[in-house]
Amino acid sequence: MPRRNPRAQEEGILFPAMGRYLDRILPPRDAVLAEMEALARRDHIPIIGPACGRLLALSAQLIRARRIFEMGSAIGYSTTWLARAAGPSAKVYYTDADPQRLAQARIFLRRAGVLKRVELLLGDAIESFRRTPGKFDIIFMDIDKEQYPEALRLALPRLRRGGLLIADNVLWSGHVVRRAQAGDRTLRAVQEFNRAIYASKQLFPVIVPLRDGVAICRKG
Ligand code: DHB
Ligand code: MG
Repeated sequence: MPRRNPRAQEEGILFPAMGRYLDRILPPRDAVLAEMEALARRDHIPIIGPACGRLLALSAQLIRARRIFEMGSAIGYSTTWLARAAGPSAKVYYTDADPQRLAQARIFLRRAGVLKRVELLLGDAIESFRRTPGKFDIIFMDIDKEQYPEALRLALPRLRRGGLLIADNVLWSGHVVRRAQAGDRTLRAVQEFNRAIYASKQLFPVIVPLRDGVAICRKG
């Protein structure tokens, strides 16, 4: 599988000065989010960043989301944006297969004041999703991109009407414009996912070309 251009991965699909501008005009984050951003920069952890964090928060507020499932949560950065936006009566399911990441996330989420509204699930995100019954107001996907098509099939029946399926990295550093080679399974999966959301009669998707591309799909 061809590796992504690491620069593009850092800077997303916008031209670099635009990406920096969109971050620079944002208000500063509180100490906990700022620390998570610094840790992500240092350890190359692919968090969604503050501009997309705000998009998640806005989405949760617009539909008054209460029950949120996150596939692929790492240090809990997007979890924090979602949990804060959804408020104290919300329940956000965090998933990650790495116990060290989960331990880091637990500390951050406690300090962010949202740990009580988060359930931390250790293990494969798709497996955790299968084991968690019920419907969700938001399902946010940020797992291995090869799993996106399968995750979409599983997520769709588990979204309430009017709920949102949100997926990160759907423009994959701009590589989506290329014809995928046979062995390029990640790119193929992202392209298949993007075709599938627009082909779905149940979804009304918009791909927002922010950072690495975020798909927001309303289930009708
Ligand atoms: C990668 C994964 C992500 O979820 C992301 O936001 C950026 C990069 C990656 O696997 O390269
Ligand atoms: Mg991502």
